[in-house]
Amino acid sequence: MKSAFENISRYITDLYKAKHKESYAAWLQYTKIDDQAIADKYAQWCRNLTVLGDSAVMESAKKELIQGISSMLGILPDSCSEPQQSGLVLAVKDSIGDLIDVDFNYLHDDGYSIKTVTSGQNNTIFIVGKKDKGVLYGTFHLLRLMQNRKNLKQLDIIENPKNQLRMLNQWDNMDGSIERGYAGNSIFYKDNQFTQEHNRIEDYARLIASVGINGIAINNVNVHQEETNLITSTLLLKVAEVAGIFRAYGITTFLSVNYASTIQIGNLTTADPLNSEVQEWWKEKAEEIYSYIPDFGGFLVKADSEHRPGPFTYGRNHADGANMLAEALQPFNGIVLWRCFVYNCLQDWRDRSTDRARAAYDHFKPLDGQFHSNVILQIKNGPMDFQVREGVSPLFGAMEKTNQMLEFQVTQEYTGQQRHLCYLVPQWKEILDFDTYAKGKGSEVKKVVDGSLFQNRYCGITAVSNIGNDYNWTGHTLAQANLYGFGRLTWNPDLSAESITDEWIGQTFGDDQSVKELVSKMLLKSWSIYEKYTSPLGVGWMVNPHHHYGPNVDGYEYDVWGTYHFADWEGIGVDRTVKTGTGYTSQYFKENADMYESLETCPDELLLFFHHVPYTHKLKSGVTVIQHIYNTHFEGVDEAEDLVETWLQLKDRIDQERFDDILNKLQEQANHSKEWRDIINTYFYRKSGIKDELNRKIYL
Ligand code: GCU
Repeated sequence: MKSAFENISRYITDLYKAKHKESYAAWLQYTKIDDQAIADKYAQWCRNLTVLGDSAVMESAKKELIQGISSMLGILPDSCSEPQQSGLVLAVKDSIGDLIDVDFNYLHDDGYSIKTVTSGQNNTIFIVGKKDKGVLYGTFHLLRLMQNRKNLKQLDIIENPKNQLRMLNQWDNMDGSIERGYAGNSIFYKDNQFTQEHNRIEDYARLIASVGINGIAINNVNVHQEETNLITSTLLLKVAEVAGIFRAYGITTFLSVNYASTIQIGNLTTADPLNSEVQEWWKEKAEEIYSYIPDFGGFLVKADSEHRPGPFTYGRNHADGANMLAEALQPFNGIVLWRCFVYNCLQDWRDRSTDRARAAYDHFKPLDGQFHSNVILQIKNGPMDFQVREGVSPLFGAMEKTNQMLEFQVTQEYTGQQRHLCYLVPQWKEILDFDTYAKGKGSEVKKVVDGSLFQNRYCGITAVSNIGNDYNWTGHTLAQANLYGFGRLTWNPDLSAESITDEWIGQTFGDDQSVKELVSKMLLKSWSIYEKYTSPLGVGWMVNPHHHYGPNVDGYEYDVWGTYHFADWEGIGVDRTVKTGTGYTSQYFKENADMYESLETCPDELLLFFHHVPYTHKLKSGVTVIQHIYNTHFEGVDEAEDLVETWLQLKDRIDQERFDDILNKLQEQANHSKEWRDIINTYFYRKSGIKDELNRKIYL
C-alpha cells in the first residue's frame, strides 16, 4: 500500500514532469518518429513483446520498452507468453531454451546479445542476457538505436561492460543540501528525513541504468551526525526502500559511513581498528544492515581527510582501517571503497618538503599488498582535486597488488558549476588513455581500473554525480551530457568522445542534422574554452575559496601561508621536480617521470603544474608564458561568445524551455568569462609588468 504522502508526491512529480517534459526526460525522450517509413519498419518488431524470465529487473526492461515503443511509434505492444512469428523477445539464459543460439561463454554477467533473426515468416529481435541485468542493458541499447533512427534489420550485437563496477556517488546530505551540488536539492532527503519522491528516484535509476551504472552510494562522503544514523535500524528501513528502487534497475546500493561510528552511535570510546570491541561492533552492524538489504554493496569511506576521523588518530594506517571494515562485510560479499583523498589540508605551502600532490601516493603506495581482497582504493583522477587540468594521479598502476577504482567528478565543482558549459568527456578520455607505463608501454589507466593489467578481483570507475531536484536534473541542460557520457565511458572507455556526443544529442534533441552538428561542436570545444579563460597551464584553482566559483587568483582556501602557485614578479608555477622541487615527478613510472621532470619535454598544458618558470619562458607553441596567459584569456572570451551565437542559430529547432534555459546559461557564461579574463590578466600584468604584445586592454 502506498502512503498518502507517496501518492501526493507522485502526483506532484507527474505534474512537474508534464510541465517540463523535455527537460525532465533528459536523453530518454522517446520522441514520436515522424518519418513514417522508419516507424513502419520498427513497428514490425514492436507489435508484440515476449518476456521470458521473471524478476523486478525484467519487469523494468519490459516497462521501459513499452514506454519507448508507445511514445515513439504510437502503438502498444501486445504482451505474449511465447514468441510470435515476429516481434521482440527478452530472455535470460535460463529461459531461452533453443530459441536462438547465443554463446553464453562469451557473455559476462552484465553482458547481452541483440540479434535480429529472419527466416521464412519469422522476423524477431531477441535481447538475451546471461542474467536479467544484461537484458535491461540490451533493452536500453535497442531503445538507443531506435531513438537514433538506426536500422534494426540485421542486428548482431554482443556487448560486455569493460568495467565491473560502474558507480555514482551522491554527495547528498540528509538536510536536503548537496555538497558541491548545482542543480537544486537532494532527491533523496529533505529536512533530515528521506523524501517520498520514489518515482523521482526511480526516474533517476532509469536514467543511470540506461548508460550501464550498476552501483550508487546514496550519501555524502562527509558523513555528519544525521547520516551517521543511516546505519541505525530506523533509517535502515528507509535505505532498504531506496535500495529496492535501485535494485529493480540492476543498481546496488552503498552507504558512505562515518569511520568513527563506534563512538558516534556505538557507545564505545574508540574507533581503533585493532580494538576487538570496535571490530565486533562493525561485524554486528554489517549483519544488521544485511538483514534489511541482503544485496547491500558495502561502505564508501573518507577517512583522515579534511577533518574527518580515521585510523591515524590511533596510530594505525589505512590498511588497518579498511581491513577492519572489510572483515565485517566479508561474510556478506560486501566491499569497502576506501578513498585515497588523504592529505594535510593545513599544509604550509612555503615548506617545499610537503606537497599536497604527493600525499595520496606517499600514504598508500607503501601499503601495497596489505589490503584485503574486498577493499578497493578509490583514487581521484588527479593528485589534487578535479581541477580543469592537472596531472593524472601517479597511484594508478603503482599498487600492483591492490584493487583500484578511478573517481571522476561529474558535478562541475571547479569547472563552472553547471552555469558554464564544460563537457568533460574529452577530459576523461585523456585520463583513461593516459599511459602509466606500469607494465611497460600500453599500461593505460583504463586497463588499470578495469582490472585487466593486474588481474584484480574488484575494480571500476566511479564519479560524483551532478544531479539534484531541478526539473532538468542538472541545472545546465547541456550538463546532462556529462552524466550520460560518464556512464557510457564506464561501460566502454574505448568509445570515442565524438560517438558518445552524437548518440547523446540524437536521443536528447532528435535527428535534426544542424542540431547535431552545432551542439556537438559546442560540447566538444567547451572544456578547452573553459580552460582558456580560467587557470592557465595546469596550475589549478584561482577560484574563490570555499564555493569555488568565479576568479580569485590567490584563492586557495586552506592557504593562509601565501600563494600556492608561487607567482611573484618574475615567474609562476609549482616546482615539483626531483632536482629542485618537491620530488613529486618521481612518483610516476620512469617514462612519465622523465617527461615531466624536464622543461623540454613537459607538455605545455601542464607546465605550471610541474615547473616554476619565468613569465618570459617560451612555450613549445613559441609564445611566452605571459603572452599565452593574455592570448588564451582573450580567445576564451571570444569563444564563449561564439557559443551564444552558435546556440542562437538553433532557435525554433529546439523546444522553447530548453532553448531558453541553455541560452540564459550561455549568456551568463559569456559575461562571466570576461570577469575571469580581466581579473587574471590584470593580476599577471601587475605582477610581471610585461605588456601585451598586441596592446589589448589587459587591466581593470
Ligand atoms: C573537495 C571538495 C569537498 C569534498 C572533497 C572530497 O575538497 O571541495 O567538498 O568533500 O573534495 O572529495 O572529499
